[in-house]
Amino acid sequence: AVATEAPIEPIPVVDVSQMTLDVRSPIELSLRLALQNGGVYIRRYHGFDIISASSLEAAIDLSDEDRFEKYMSIGQQTVRGFTGDGLFTAFNDEPNWQKAHDILLPAFSGSALRRYHTTMVKVAKRLIGAWDAADDEFVDVADDMTRMTLDTIGLTGFGYDFSSFERAEPHPFVSAMVRGLAYSQSLEMRRPDDGLDHSAADAEFKADCDFIASVVDEVIEARTTAGTPTEDDMLSLMLETPHPVSGEKLDPVNARYQVVTFLAAGHETTSGSLAFAMYFLVNHPEVLRRARAEVDALWGDTDEVTPSYEDIGNLTYVRQVFNESLRLWPAAAGFSRQAKVDTTLLGRHPMNKGDWAVVLAPVLHRDPTVWGDNPNAFDPDHFSPEREAARSVHAFKPFGTGERACIGRQFAMHEAVLVLGLLIHRYRFLDPESYQLRIAQRLTMKPADFRLKVRRRVPAE
Ligand code: HEM
Repeated sequence: AVATEAPIEPIPVVDVSQMTLDVRSPIELSLRLALQNGGVYIRRYHGFDIISASSLEAAIDLSDEDRFEKYMSIGQQTVRGFTGDGLFTAFNDEPNWQKAHDILLPAFSGSALRRYHTTMVKVAKRLIGAWDAADDEFVDVADDMTRMTLDTIGLTGFGYDFSSFERAEPHPFVSAMVRGLAYSQSLEMRRPDDGLDHSAADAEFKADCDFIASVVDEVIEARTTAGTPTEDDMLSLMLETPHPVSGEKLDPVNARYQVVTFLAAGHETTSGSLAFAMYFLVNHPEVLRRARAEVDALWGDTDEVTPSYEDIGNLTYVRQVFNESLRLWPAAAGFSRQAKVDTTLLGRHPMNKGDWAVVLAPVLHRDPTVWGDNPNAFDPDHFSPEREAARSVHAFKPFGTGERACIGRQFAMHEAVLVLGLLIHRYRFLDPESYQLRIAQRLTMKPADFRLKVRRRVPAE
């Protein structure tokens, strides 16, 4: 008997050329389109197609490392202006990726994280110092989280102190990087025939890349003056440590790109994620109560808590809160995958070698076949051990997938749970302006203009 082939059902095409695109927050449009069209559709913009493949099924298919690999979006390729062939922006076939990955991996081992812990606590206390001193003034949540994560990666990775809490304005490194990321994001939508003059924006990007390179000089210079620390930190691995097999060190140009990569990747996403987690805590009093019960059980009404490394592993509900927040608003909006061979996506869409698709994490993380009828509801019990064990590992991908997934995942989780735990223990959060969530997007996402007032919980409630 001859098997009859099922008819191939094409992926729907959605032409967005006539829509008003908000380049500041394209993810909101993507979410709306995904709701209307399901997780898998082709987005057509003036004849330029992007496959948005963000259902669980698609994420499983695209995570197959035999058929797919990382694709670098135009935005990421633009970031190469300051990160070159550093880990995050190296093309798959650039040899410096494997070389640097092997050399830098020890910086993310369990024992390295244990070493960073004391510094993470010290910097978290800078944040607490600033919030204690805010008195009745508003605190800008995303800005302060950025101060904290930048100081943390600077000190733990590079022994360099950005002293961000001593500055009224963000450190100029942050401003230059944020402008650079926004510029990179805008290139996703720029068309060669748009007839506009982009020369001022292009020149500003060039100047920002130069400035960022000068910050690297300062970080390396400070190390040269201070000498090598007794334990390997990220900077000493980058500058001095030979590859475990070939014995070669990173070349000086690549080492500089790694410094920028880790300073940037090591703080921007974690701070956005923390700001989202604060937003959810403030808006879910019952979740906040449970999280408080957990930190109070651990730290009682001690006024000056200095968490141990083990304490952070014991804050299991706070970790669930952070994961749930990463589910709904993953600060890195997604990742892209290109075909390594001629293949078919989901058994129904032919792809030639080199064709690519994007997995939008906020869409994947709301797939109703995984997260139920109300996937938009914030519920940290989604991350109870039983529910986690019962679902596909591909349902939750805030850190990307495969060998190019985030190398800093454990670092970020440890830092985030530590800080959230301390803040929940110490403060009541007040939102007199009834903040309405708006997303600021520049390759990564943050809540825009989110401010709160905080009050000490003394005596503990
Ligand atoms: C890669 C997310 C924190 C360093 C990635 C990727 C994602 C991601 C989605 C993959 C990108 C792609 O496939 O194109 C996040 C999130 C974080 C976080 C959501 C915080 C909540 C960190 C931290 C560090 C870091 C703290 C360093 C200390 C990197 C690096 C890569 C990367 C170096 C490139 C890895 C490679 O290609 O070999 N991250 N990240 N990230 N991340 Fe993170």
